[in-house]
Amino acid sequence: MATFATATLLTLLLLLRTITCDDDSSAFVYAGCSQGRYASGSRYASGVDSVLTSIANSAPSTPYANFTAPTDASLAGLYQCRSDLPASVCFPCVRAAIARLSSLCAWAAGGAVQLRACFVRYGNDSFLGKQDTTVLFKKCGGAPGTAGGAAMRDSALGALVAEAAPPEGGGYRAGGSGGVQAMSQCVGDLSAKACSDCVSAAAAQLKAGCGYASAGEVYLGKCYARFWGNGGGGFSSSGGARDGLVGFGLVHAAFVAAFDVDSLYLSLSPAEF
Ligand SMILES: *[C@@H]1O[C@H](CO)[C@@H](O)[C@H](O)[C@H]1NC(C)=O
Ligand SMILES: *[C@@H]1O[C@H](CO)[C@@H](O)[C@H](O)[C@H]1NC(C)=O
Repeated sequence: MATFATATLLTLLLLLRTITCDDDSSAFVYAGCSQGRYASGSRYASGVDSVLTSIANSAPSTPYANFTAPTDASLAGLYQCRSDLPASVCFPCVRAAIARLSSLCAWAAGGAVQLRACFVRYGNDSFLGKQDTTVLFKKCGGAPGTAGGAAMRDSALGALVAEAAPPEGGGYRAGGSGGVQAMSQCVGDLSAKACSDCVSAAAAQLKAGCGYASAGEVYLGKCYARFWGNGGGGFSSSGGARDGLVGFGLVHAAFVAAFDVDSLYLSLSPAEF
């Protein structure tokens, strides 16, 4: 099974490398699909259509919303855009995410896709309103930094955790310390307290796992956090292949954990930045 999973992951990874999007806000980060499947033409199929259509229709007006299938109360869906971005960015991102879901997770009872500026998830696994700090994707990169840079990173991430979450739209937070910037975003179904807890877990992952890297990002089930050096030490500036390997290993670990624990995700794929 593990060998099959690895092969699937590699296939997806290679596939995704060839369809990298130029538009940064719709750039692919990760996706996961449940193992359970539904039949074409079934009540569940029309429920998935309904939920995804509602999501697409809502994206031009608000950065977060959730929907339940009219025929099946256990089937829910939601989307979350980075809540500091305008609808002109949110809407195309959500449309692109739905297109990715339809191709990557075709017939899967549940699926999630994270693009740069938005997240879309649907399924019947009761995820709505629940905290989830499972690590789904993690990546450290940029030019090698210093102990001083790592201290600034810790302080920038600490500022995110300490910041009172804005009441609306999933609580986008941004902060900085010296030469390091940081941001975080929760999914809007979390309470302000659950969002703070999730950001705190994300910050802890980055502090513990990114060494002296000058940029990093971690995506948990219900929030994500990123940091980068002001000097432009982003991921694209150095060693893409090496960064990719870091991400790949961790995603694979996350996949194994998810598979063992609750069988939610059949596959998770790292991004090509
Ligand atoms: C979710 O839906 C799929 C497809 O209809 C089904 O196989 C699965 O048992 C359902 N899971 C739950 C928890 O209801
Ligand atoms: C789901 O959407 C409904 C209707 O907009 C809203 O009242 C509810 O608070 C939302 N639930 C969550 C968990 O976000």
